[in-house]
Amino acid sequence: MATSKDYRLGEFTFPRGWFMIADAKALDTHKPVAVRFFGKDFALYRGRATGKVVLLDAYCPHMKTHLAAPNNTSYVVIDGGGSNVEGDDIRCPYHAWRFGPDGKCNDIPYHNGPIPAAACVKSWTIKESLGAIWVWHDPEGGEPEWEHPTLPQWDDPAWVRWTFDDLGTLNQHPQEVIDNICDSAHLSPIHGSTVQRYENEFDGHIATQRQCGPHRTLVGADGVSPVLHTVTSYHGPGVLISYLTGLYDSVLLITHTPIEDGSIKVWHALMVKSPGGNATVTVPDTVAARQFQESSRLAFMQDFEVWMNKAPCLNGMFLPTEGPFMKARIWYRQFFNPRATKAEYQNQVNGVYVPRGAVPYTTPGEAA
Ligand code: FES
Ligand SMILES: [Fe+2]
Repeated sequence: MATSKDYRLGEFTFPRGWFMIADAKALDTHKPVAVRFFGKDFALYRGRATGKVVLLDAYCPHMKTHLAAPNNTSYVVIDGGGSNVEGDDIRCPYHAWRFGPDGKCNDIPYHNGPIPAAACVKSWTIKESLGAIWVWHDPEGGEPEWEHPTLPQWDDPAWVRWTFDDLGTLNQHPQEVIDNICDSAHLSPIHGSTVQRYENEFDGHIATQRQCGPHRTLVGADGVSPVLHTVTSYHGPGVLISYLTGLYDSVLLITHTPIEDGSIKVWHALMVKSPGGNATVTVPDTVAARQFQESSRLAFMQDFEVWMNKAPCLNGMFLPTEGPFMKARIWYRQFFNPRATKAEYQNQVNGVYVPRGAVPYTTPGEAA
C-alpha cells in the first residue's frame, strides 16, 4: 500500500481536519470502545454522568494497559457493572488508576501522595453530530480551523434521518478516494450517468463537484431516473456531503478516516426529504428513504469495487477532457502541511474548472 510520502503530499503522514471515528450507536452501551485511527490506538467512551463523549489516547501511563480493550475479568470492570467507565471518568482495569475527560489521572486508590503530573493521557477535541462522533485531528495540535459537520436537515422533521452503513476498511490511501471529486470521466462507465453538465470548484478547505444527468444506478421505484443533480463537497480531507435533487431531495454523507498510512475506514449515509412533509409519522417515507440510501450505497460500491483492487495512482495520465485531478491533489496537500502554508496550496487551485468539451453546471431551472 502506498503512503502519504509516496503521493508526495507533504510534511505530515496524516492530514489536518475533522474525521468520523464512530457511529454514535457504538456508544449506546456504557462500555468504552477501542478504536484505531492515524496509526494510533484510542479509548472512546460516553461519560455516564453527563453523556459527554470522550476520546483519550489508549495506553495508561502507569504500565501501558489499554484503557478500552474488551475486558471481562478485572474487578474494576466486574464491580463497575461490566464497564470501567465511572461517571465521566475511566478507570484502568490493571491497577485502577482513574482518568478524567481531560486525560488527567484523578485517583490512585493505593496512593495517598500527590498524583504525578505525568500521570495523564492526551484528550482529543470531540464533537457529536449527525449520529456520528468526530475528532479534530491536527499534526500541529491546533484548534479546529472550521466547524465540525452539521446539517439543518438533521433536526428538520420533514427529513428521514440516516443510519450509517459501515463500509469497513479500504486498503487504499485516501488520495485515491479524494481523486473521485473531480473524476468526470468515471461517471458514465461506473455509475451509468449521462453527464450533461459538469464543473469543479475549489475554495479554501472546500472542494466541490457539480454535475447533472440521468443515472442508471440511482433510479426510482419505476426504474427510471430523471435528470439527477448532485452538488458534492469535501469539507476538509475526510468529510464529503452531497446534495441530490431530481429524484428524491436527499443529502449524502461519505466519511473516510485514515487507520494506517495507506488504509481508511469508510462510512456512508443518506438523508431523504419526506414528500409527505413529516417523516416522523410516515412509515412508508422511512422505507422509501432506506431504499434510496441502499441505491446510493450501491452506487458508491461501484467506486469501492475498483478501489479495492487497483494499484496506487502515483503518476496518473490525466487528460484535459477530464476533471482537474492535479488541482484536487494540490488542494489536498494543504492538509498535510503546516497550517501557516495553506494559502500556498489554496492560491494555486481556488476557482472553477470545466473539463475541455464539457458544459458548465447550472442549477435546475436556470437558463442554459
Ligand atoms: S497500567 Fe493502568 S493503572 Fe497500572
Ligand atoms: Fe463515483
